[in-house]
Amino acid sequence: MSHYFDNYKKQLNLLLDRNRTLKYKYAIFKAVKEGDVVIDFGCGTGVLGFFALQAGASHVYAIEETSIIEYARRMAIKNNLEENITFIQKPGKEITAEDISGEVDVILSEPVSNLLLEGDAWSSIEYLKQFLKNDGLVLPVSGSLLIVPVNAPPEVFRDSDYFLGGTNVYNIDFIELPRTVFYKSTLGESAWLTSPQPILEVNLLRDTLNDTFENSVKFSIQQSGQLVGVEFFFKLNIFKNITLSSRDQVTYHNWTPLFAPSSKQSSVCSGDILRITVSTEMISPYKAIWTLEFDHHSKLIPYNDAWWETDSAIPTLAPGVMLSKAGLLLLNQEDYSQYDCENDLEWDFIQLLPKPLNCNEMCQIIAQSRKHEMTFEEIKNRLIQLLHKLLMNSLINMPIPKERFVFTRFSSSIHIP
Ligand SMILES: C[S@@+](CC[C@H](N)C(=O)[O-])C[C@H]1O[C@@H](n2cnc3c(N)ncnc32)[C@H](O)[C@@H]1O
Repeated sequence: MSHYFDNYKKQLNLLLDRNRTLKYKYAIFKAVKEGDVVIDFGCGTGVLGFFALQAGASHVYAIEETSIIEYARRMAIKNNLEENITFIQKPGKEITAEDISGEVDVILSEPVSNLLLEGDAWSSIEYLKQFLKNDGLVLPVSGSLLIVPVNAPPEVFRDSDYFLGGTNVYNIDFIELPRTVFYKSTLGESAWLTSPQPILEVNLLRDTLNDTFENSVKFSIQQSGQLVGVEFFFKLNIFKNITLSSRDQVTYHNWTPLFAPSSKQSSVCSGDILRITVSTEMISPYKAIWTLEFDHHSKLIPYNDAWWETDSAIPTLAPGVMLSKAGLLLLNQEDYSQYDCENDLEWDFIQLLPKPLNCNEMCQIIAQSRKHEMTFEEIKNRLIQLLHKLLMNSLINMPIPKERFVFTRFSSSIHIP
């Protein structure tokens, strides 16, 4: 069988990650009680099961589908633990009541990739929960996958492999190469356009565990810049307050935060709303397609959750109308005559315009309204006209970035080999 974890080097990398292995050891010593019966699912070299026996477990069922289990058997003998371990070389979902006698107190595993989900490991744990006592424990207790939209400075664009597709690298045009892959992220927190948020949060005991998911997160952009993609990292709560993350700052780490470039760059401003949808699909036991969808929503447009669902209301309107809709929300029929253009310059859309222009044109309109020379409809139409002219850049020679006013939606498909 050809399998990612059949590779001894992969297993060694896990053991060499002392941060990971010691945190698991502490957690197991806290969680496992004298006499407990334990499942070590995906036992690999057997290390977690050995910790459980050292912590006082009376028996461990060590389940592993790859031939790495042979090393675990030999290690058990060498460490005089073989009498208390049953090794079962099978996929987790093929375990039956004949393999495991009675119910177990703890299910242990370390089923985590850089993107939290790992092959069919999570659904296998779900399957194995049928052998767990009612008051049993599952370790890790919970896991979350966090995402954050990121900016990147020009040097990263120029030098990095991330952007091989498109630019002139090595004097060759790589535009034909798909960029739809995850990369090790070296961007760091200064590239974050806002704070990370969980796109997936799972309690391993309470929730029904799946190997795929689809979810959306809404971000409010805190730092203006170019949206170039998304950084992913995970956090695990192994037990009590023993946590493990792919962002742990340690000298040797088995994991790394990942960067997924978006298929299109987009300039975003502080206050904009960005909704990112992530969906995954398994195409074989160790191959998945991750699809990212970006909905970028200018802060100038009042945000309404329903719009995401219909796709129709705002995006099909002309840019000027979207803008004036934002502005006019503040100017309703009752209070327009109180409007004082000197004090109300913080209108979102006015902020984007040069002050002299605001004052001249806006104030004229508002002043006329004060004198009640215009109806509300007339004012509205004048404002829409004005804003439309501004947007078309016909009135002023000012580069208003077009994407500030549009509602953009694009998606990237990411393949995990
Ligand atoms: C990340 S490794 C952890 C190995 C070991 N528990 C440790 O902590 O060093 C995950 C292990 O689970 C095994 N595994 C993954 N999915 C499995 C499945 N569905 N059935 C049995 N073993 C599985 C892999 O082959 C791999 O050895």
